[in-house]
Amino acid sequence: HIHVTYGFITSICLTRGDGGQFTKGELELGRHAPGLAVVIVGHRKDSQSYVNMKRKACAAVGIKSVDIDLPEQVPEAELIAKVHELNANPEVHGILVQLPLLKHINEEKVLTEISIDKDVDGFHPLNIGKLAMKAETRSSLHSQSTRTVGCIELLKRSVVIIKGKRAVVVGRSNIVGLPISLLLLKADATIKGGWLKPGAAVIDVGTNAVNDASRKSGYRLVGDVDYQEGCKVARCIMPVPGGVGHMTIAMLLKNTLDGAKRVIG
Ligand code: GUN
Repeated sequence: HIHVTYGFITSICLTRGDGGQFTKGELELGRHAPGLAVVIVGHRKDSQSYVNMKRKACAAVGIKSVDIDLPEQVPEAELIAKVHELNANPEVHGILVQLPLLKHINEEKVLTEISIDKDVDGFHPLNIGKLAMKAETRSSLHSQSTRTVGCIELLKRSVVIIKGKRAVVVGRSNIVGLPISLLLLKADATIKGGWLKPGAAVIDVGTNAVNDASRKSGYRLVGDVDYQEGCKVARCIMPVPGGVGHMTIAMLLKNTLDGAKRVIG
């Protein structure tokens, strides 16, 4: 079980088939640890920040993170070969390839090569298709992407009733715009154009690295929404950083744990 409070993971609890708890030693040895492979290509600052947070979150809850850092110029075939290797690795229950990938790599091709049983992001075309068809996710594992489920979870925890509401999704990416539209439809919302109105619930899923000389790193992360302005009109609004990113990671850990449970039992 993973317990989450407003996007922060407060605890994780694995239970054994016999009802007992795994010892800390067992988890650390990795004999029963769920494993998540986090693959990053190149050095984009925003991607690196995300990947570091994901890896730290794994360490915090006893998920074994398999870190794959590939150089910017890695050929597509080599990245795909790495994905195949991870597909075949029984210690890896979830595979995440951080997006966006560089221009010389066909993103869709790479995502299609991830075993659908290990697709913790829910970006495999089959999983997106299942989501579009409103299929239940139990057998299809991760057809709901971590970020979109994180958004819905944040709305629910902010006691926003989705049913019957008009929803505005600003953005049209395959990572967020498309799946969030599908999930909102599934939650009985209808989607129309337009802008925020007073009282709206705003979830900012943007991540942008902006230069900031006052920081040691030389940059800071901001979202797509002007938070200060949004605060004045929205009923609730998620900040960046500190908003949906945490919930995305919580859902990523949950998907990895679910994948591991299917194998470990
Ligand atoms: N890039 C930005 N957000 C995400 C995400 O949730 N998953 C992956 N794989 N890449 C991303």
